[in-house]
Order: sequence, then C-alpha cells, then structure tokens
Amino acid sequence: MTFVSLSRTRRSHPRAVILGTGSELPAQVVTNAALEKLVDTSDEWITTRTGIKERRILEEGKGNADMAYRASVRALKDAGLEAKDVEAIIMGTVTPDYPFPSSACVLEDMLGVRKAFSFDVNAACCGFLNALAIADSFIRTGRIRTALVVGSDALSRLLNWKDRGTCILFGDGAGAVVLGASHDGAHGILSTRLRTDGSYVKTLYVPAGGSLKPASLESVKRNEHTIAMNGKEVFKVAVRSMEEISREALDEAEVKVDEVSLVIPHQANLRIITALAGRLKVPMTKVMVNVDRYGNTSAASVPVALDEARREGRIRPGDIVLLNAFGAGFAWGAAVIRF
Ligand code: UT7
Repeated sequence: MTFVSLSRTRRSHPRAVILGTGSELPAQVVTNAALEKLVDTSDEWITTRTGIKERRILEEGKGNADMAYRASVRALKDAGLEAKDVEAIIMGTVTPDYPFPSSACVLEDMLGVRKAFSFDVNAACCGFLNALAIADSFIRTGRIRTALVVGSDALSRLLNWKDRGTCILFGDGAGAVVLGASHDGAHGILSTRLRTDGSYVKTLYVPAGGSLKPASLESVKRNEHTIAMNGKEVFKVAVRSMEEISREALDEAEVKVDEVSLVIPHQANLRIITALAGRLKVPMTKVMVNVDRYGNTSAASVPVALDEARREGRIRPGDIVLLNAFGAGFAWGAAVIRF
C-alpha cells in the first residue's frame, strides 16, 4: 500500500524543462593585439595557450545586472513568457553590482518581477550550474513552476591589467535560461551533479574585499582586489574533475556518452576543452566552443554557449546535451538535459 502511493507521488513529480534561452555580450571588443600594448604578451602566445582571440568588456558605469537584464529579456521572449510569470530568479555570479543585496534582486526590480524570491549563488565559473540545480530542485518538488536562471559576470572588474597570467583569460557576459515544469516525463533536466573542494580556495581567489581583509589603501596598493591564480594547478584539476562529474551525471541520467548530441563545457581554455573531450571520447564536432570570441566569462560561459548553440540550430528536439563547468572553490558540476 505504502509502496504504491510512494511510486505514484514520484511519477507525478514534474521535471524542469528549458523553455527559452538568451544571452548578452557587451559591445566593447578587446583583441589580443590590444592586450599586447598592456602587458608583455603576444597574440601567438594567447592563441596557442588558450584559444582566445578576443573578449568583451562591460562599459564603465554599467553593472552585472545590466547584462543579466538583457539576457533575461531575450530568454523570456524566447520562452513566450512575461516577467510576471517568473516565480524565482537564481543568479550565479561572483561580481554582483553591490556586496549586498544580491544582483538577482537588482535584476528582479529591473524586470518588474514582484511575486518571486530571488538570490545569488557564489560558485564562480560553476555558478550557473549551481543555480540550475537549485531551480531544478524547486521545480521537481512542485514548490515553483517557473524560474529564471542566470549566469552573469563582469570579471573585467576583478582583473589586474598588469598581470599577463590572468588579464588575457577573462571577459564579461551574461546568459539566461527560463525553466518551466513538465509532466511529460521525456524531456527536461535528467540529472545534475555538483561538487566542491575547499582545500583549493587560495589557488584561485580575490585576496581582499571580504570580511577577512576589508578594502584599505594598502590592499588597493597591493592589488589584492584582483584575481590571484595558479593557472597550472587549475588546469590540471579542471580537466580531471569535469570528466569525473560528467560521467557521474551521465550515469545518473542513464545516458551513454555516445547518446550525447552536444557537450557544452565551461569556456575557460581551448586546451582544457579538447583535453576533456579526449578523455570523454567525444569528437570535437560534438563540442560547443566560443572561447575564441569571449574568453572565460565565468558563470556566463555555459548559458551563453547554450544560447548560441540553440540559435545556431545545433540543438534539435530530442537531443541530449551535457553541460559542465569548473571554477574557483574549487567548484564543479555537470547537468544532462533532453530537449
Ligand atoms: O574557470 C577557471 C579559471 N581559470 C582557468 O581556467 C585557468 C586554467 N589554466 C590555464 O588556462 C593555463 O594554465 C594558463 C593559460 C593560465 C597558462 O598556460 P600554461 O601553459 O599553464 O603556462 P604557464 O603558466 O606554465 O607559463 C608558461 C610561460 C611562463 O614563462 P616561463 O616561466 O616559462 O619563462 C609564463 O611566465 O608563459 C609565461 N606566460 C606568458 N607569456 C606570454 C604566462 N602568461 C603569459 C602571457 N603571455 N599572457
């Protein structure tokens, strides 16, 4: 008796489906040639070591929520929904407009959303996947039926433009996804997996500006409000971790890697992407790449690439797509979605 009612409840649980996507990249393009004038680097070094040719930088006077707003309006239009339909806004970001309140609340106000709950998630480059997994859980449990999930970052605001090891890597952007609830059982988010390892906090971080070391004249002079990174270590752990978590997400979804139509990895470095594809044994023709045009846009990277892939016709109904990301924390994750 108990078994029957439990299984009925489980079957009636909705699944989160992607109803629409949108993205926004700032207009200002910074090429490798422009960076050659700032630091001792070359287009040849940046291209061969990272695959990046150019990135976008958010204009002065604008904040993270401005990009998120544009991406969200496009995603809502694509979904055929209005802002008033949104029940939750969850934004992955490490560059909110203010230390508090959240950029999700700033976005909520810009959109005119009034009956929702909104918050930011700090998981660096993995922020969108964390936000997606949280929204998926709210929808699966029936707590909400629609969510706006955003990944938006302006890492240009955290760069030391004299540090050639970091300033060449990052760019700004925003991507948004509108999730709805579906009972058809076939489509939607099949699995999400998240992981962190806090022993790597100082391998990739911003040393000052938090409660431990608030802003001071000294911290500004020492450039402690900009990204400090051991790139080699990040590279090594990123490839291994994204492979592992992708396999876990595929197992949980009961999907074989050959059944995946498109992999949309975090766009940090073309060498990381190709190494990951090699380990997963996925041909590069099935891997979405736009790191050449935008660099690493942190939490925006996966939703921007997802939106581009959809607009380029690379995702058709029934296709299975694997998302994965890795970033500071270290935090990493993966999701499997059937469209
Ligand atoms: O979302 C996660 C965010 N972070 C990442 O994804 C970073 C992952 N790591 C990477 O992408 C790579 O480690 C980097 C692109 C950051 C660096 O590439 P690498 O092949 O690991 O180079 P390296 O750090 O071992 O440096 C090799 C050389 C060094 O010179 P020496 O010591 O061999 O003389 C660096 O000083 O390249 C030098 N170098 C540069 N040269 C020209 C470092 N940055 C530059 C540069 N231009 N921009």
